[in-house]
Amino acid sequence: MLTLGIETSCDETGLGLYHGRRGLLGHVLASQVDLHAPYGGVVPELASRDHVRKLLPLLRTLLAQTGTRAGDIDTVAYTAGPGLVGALLTGATVARALAWAWRVPCVGVHHMEAHLLAALLEAPDDTPVPFVALLVSGGHTLLVEVAAIGRYRVLGQSLDDAVGEAFDKTAKLLGLPYPGGPALARLARQASEAQARRFQFTRPMINRPGLDFSFSGLKTQVRQVVRELESANQAMDLPTRAAIARAFEEAVVQTLVIKCRRALQQTGARSLLVAGGVSANQRLRQQLAGLCAEHGWRLRTPAAEYCTDNGAMVAFAGHLRSPAQVAHNAVASAPCAGHADNAAPLVRARWPLADLPPLPGRSIAPPIAG
Ligand code: KG4
Ligand code: ZN
Repeated sequence: MLTLGIETSCDETGLGLYHGRRGLLGHVLASQVDLHAPYGGVVPELASRDHVRKLLPLLRTLLAQTGTRAGDIDTVAYTAGPGLVGALLTGATVARALAWAWRVPCVGVHHMEAHLLAALLEAPDDTPVPFVALLVSGGHTLLVEVAAIGRYRVLGQSLDDAVGEAFDKTAKLLGLPYPGGPALARLARQASEAQARRFQFTRPMINRPGLDFSFSGLKTQVRQVVRELESANQAMDLPTRAAIARAFEEAVVQTLVIKCRRALQQTGARSLLVAGGVSANQRLRQQLAGLCAEHGWRLRTPAAEYCTDNGAMVAFAGHLRSPAQVAHNAVASAPCAGHADNAAPLVRARWPLADLPPLPGRSIAPPIAG
């Protein structure tokens, strides 16, 4: 079984090929960073147009790189949502057209499930369930209890900005270029230990029960500090900006760590998975590793190249979801055969993770004890 995965939910065009026995054969990625950088953020219409330009050339590159013929592909998977609707539609349309031409099934996958699965991509048989997943991207902040792949219970989510969004907006306040998250993390690394203590931001919502998040206030605190420094005519020099970046990053990371600890303790799970663009953050990875070491919990994270959007994770999710297609045809959002005239929606800009049908009769691997 060979699955082609197509990712176009935002500003990366990604394609991957996943083989049922041999694993990931390869993936290719075209970033739109240079295209959107002058605007300081993603311009949806430009994103859609660039996906249109890049998709087929990237497919040719991927086939050549992996020595694959189009006729070897058994399933075409694409990100059906959530995401920017125009961008999603470009991937969906190309996926459906290819599936129709090749007479193979076409599977619409959930972007956040694909992110989650990215952490299991390289060792899918070694998946301890149940576990808690922290999914942190530009659009979502979710704490999820995973009973099996496809059986998700949302434990907590952001009530306002997603973590990645908070990183991006705060980066802008510090005069950093888009995409802000990695730039802010780089700036934070330049702060000395003394500078790291110069500013203190609150850890939002940690004193309230529950597992929801709120990050927009943190960004407002940064704005306030920047304003105060400016009105006092204090230089917004590199050490000052680095100190603010470091304090912001520390506040976000500690908030996430505290909520993860609470989620594992509440559920009794002994394993934590973290995925999504923000899981590339080194400070977050280090502190979650520390938390898990302290409690004897297991931590799963994607390799760096699979944290942010990519086609490999979509190919893998599509591979796992392709049997579900047959069993769940009746579900409106479920995949449909590429060559059939089917009324199922092509894409969904909003799509709750918990609405996904469980994978029938299996998880990737049996549960581990304890
Ligand atoms: O998963 P992703 O590629 O796209 C979405 O599904 O949204 O996540 C992108 C987000 C952006 O907000 C970006 O700033 C953030 O992930 N990000 C980071 C880092 N790398 C990417 N945030 C903090 N530290 C990083 N190293
Ligand atoms: Zn993403």
